[in-house]
Amino acid sequence: MTDRYAVVGNPIGHSRSPAIHARFAAQTGHDIRYEALLAPLDGFEQTVREFAAAGGRGLNVTVPFKERAYALADSRSPRAEAAGAANTLVFDAAGIHADNTDGVGLVRDLGQRHRLPLAGASVLLLGAGGAASGVVGPLLAAGVGALCIVNRTAIRAQALAARFADPRVSAAGYDALAEVPPSRAIVVNATSAGLADAALPVPAGVLRSARFAYDMVYGAQPTAFLRQAAAAGCPAMADGLGMLVEQAAESFRIWRGVLPDTEPVYQALREALGGR
Ligand code: ATR
Repeated sequence: MTDRYAVVGNPIGHSRSPAIHARFAAQTGHDIRYEALLAPLDGFEQTVREFAAAGGRGLNVTVPFKERAYALADSRSPRAEAAGAANTLVFDAAGIHADNTDGVGLVRDLGQRHRLPLAGASVLLLGAGGAASGVVGPLLAAGVGALCIVNRTAIRAQALAARFADPRVSAAGYDALAEVPPSRAIVVNATSAGLADAALPVPAGVLRSARFAYDMVYGAQPTAFLRQAAAAGCPAMADGLGMLVEQAAESFRIWRGVLPDTEPVYQALREALGGR
């Protein structure tokens, strides 16, 4: 019998997850169907329960439901616990199990696709919302030497840092970057500023002396943050398309027990976006 999966969000129309999982299924020979589900803002929990009751085996969860997916679950993986949010649900006899593959997706994209050694690296994480909180634990687990969380609302960065109680983690506002500019950092944009095509108040010197600029968002054209990094003279950069494919692969592994080869899927998506 064909096993059913879906991605649930609001909006959901532009999700690339169905195309990614269809490629993973073809590549591994797994017989699955993977759809996109639009959940009403006041009906996420019901949508999940109905999908499970109809025989669905698992869900990916996207904006704005990741915290609610976490709350809804009967059990949670340590990385979902660390994020306080879930992007992957598994339905089995024990109920709903929540996991979070976003952080491992970022770590694999940086470490494997972009060949950045993370052990001992200095990371500047811009943003302290849902996207940022999902990646702190996995970056620490990957052995980064220092992780500074920088946010417009500094108190939110402090609150996120405090959740990890790890001496490598610090928190700051953007103004602190000008006072003590970090050098050779991997600068990761986890803010939603790019959705409004807005630049971030990161001093140009920080980007010029950075090792790498990474935007969790992706698109056909360079994002506002990557244009800002390029204008500042940052030596290397990437958008978040690879993270998207890697987090999907890890979800597929959780559900199906096999980790797909992500590179051909990444290349196909990049080509479909316009081949930059
Ligand atoms: P997400 O789930 O995408 O992380 P979120 O939880 O609403 O969404 O968080 C959005 C993040 O982007 C926050 O860190 C926010 O900063 P504040 O906490 O100060 O609001 C950040 N952000 C959004 N627009 C921004 C802008 N124009 N400049 C700087 N930071 C911005």
